[in-house]
Amino acid sequence: MPSSYFIGLMSGTSTDGVDGVLAQLPDNRPIDSGLRLRQDPAGPLDVTASAQAITVLASASLPLPAALRQELLALNSTGPDELARAALAANTLADCYANAVAALLKQSGLQAADIRAIGAHGQTVRHAPESGYTLQINAPARLAEYTGIAVVADFRSRDVAAGGQGAPLVPAFHAALFGSGAGRVVLNLGGIANVTLLDDPIQGFDTGPANMLMDAWIQRHQGQAYDRNGAWAAQGRCHTGLLAALLAEPWLALPPPKSTGRDLFNLAWLQARLDTLSERPTPVDVQATLLRFSVETIAQAVRRHASGVRAILACGGGALNPVFMQALSQALPCPLGTTADHGVPVQSVEALAFAWLAQAHVLGLPACLPAVTGARHATIAGCLYPA
Ligand SMILES: Nc1ncnc2c1ncn2[C@@H]1O[C@H](COP(=O)(O)OP(=O)(O)OP(=O)(O)O)[C@@H](O)[C@H]1O
Ligand SMILES: [Mg+2]
Repeated sequence: MPSSYFIGLMSGTSTDGVDGVLAQLPDNRPIDSGLRLRQDPAGPLDVTASAQAITVLASASLPLPAALRQELLALNSTGPDELARAALAANTLADCYANAVAALLKQSGLQAADIRAIGAHGQTVRHAPESGYTLQINAPARLAEYTGIAVVADFRSRDVAAGGQGAPLVPAFHAALFGSGAGRVVLNLGGIANVTLLDDPIQGFDTGPANMLMDAWIQRHQGQAYDRNGAWAAQGRCHTGLLAALLAEPWLALPPPKSTGRDLFNLAWLQARLDTLSERPTPVDVQATLLRFSVETIAQAVRRHASGVRAILACGGGALNPVFMQALSQALPCPLGTTADHGVPVQSVEALAFAWLAQAHVLGLPACLPAVTGARHATIAGCLYPA
């Protein structure tokens, strides 16, 4: 019988590190051919139905080496010799992924031969579905060679080819994990914030930045990769003029399906809004305003598109920021908890999603939901590099 052990590796837009999970996944998937969930939509918020069947055997978060992080961030913009640099950065990223796999195998006591496949997302350096492409640099052949495990990669392009956003990919997994039911929302606070409305049909879309602009701003002014526990933002005051200028971004008013990334929300975008102000806020006030901006865009999206929401479960690194979470819970129209309250650590959700998506690929199940991405039809996500 084929193994049901899968590894998921996620390195998201924050470019902070690699999150990895080794899990045993049931072969009996809760998605039927119509991509509707079989669970009772009126049932209580209970992860036991599917989450109990998913057993996480190991998890690891490895920071990216500083030089690689810098190069990946630089590769988000056009630069000299970028093709060769991207290829080399992809190789170094695959080496980090291989280190994460080694750590997961060691922790679990399993061997490479026990693992059915690795789902490796790669690092997004361009996301332009409206122009027909999304680009995650990755070296899946190298990862398969170094680990001796089959690798599923390039999860987004097929959906883009079918006219979709190629994002978000996680809603089907969120539904499998937490069940579908009116009024539940999963909120991922990574570099970008994305929501999954666990309804019928499932919906999901990016709402705008979560941590990305705050990370970039504190890096520029304090030399830190992120604002630990929101301590710096908490010392500042929201600048209403800047907040209004940020909220005027037309992308925010677009209806779903929609997705975004560093292509739009970056320091140049922020600088252009700062330049419109007659009086320049202090750096710490900008940080406080960026936090408020993330909170407002998330709350607006929930109010507009999930008016009947009963409970919100946050995950991703932003869920570890108490200042962010406190501000969100005041702005949102219903109680805010985290996936950890339901047994899934906030930093493991996205990595577990890529283990699940790898399994969907090897089982030949379409996991890109057209209702979410706007594609013409459902597609099987990813491409397989055999062991
Ligand atoms: N203790 C903390 N305090 C404040 N912020 C934190 C803390 N821990 C993590 N973060 C934030 O979370 C970010 C990382 O989150 P995460 O790994 O979920 O995002 P990601 O890599 O962009 O993933 P994805 O794009 O898949 O959502 C960090 O860059 C940082 O901004
Ligand atoms: Mg991350």
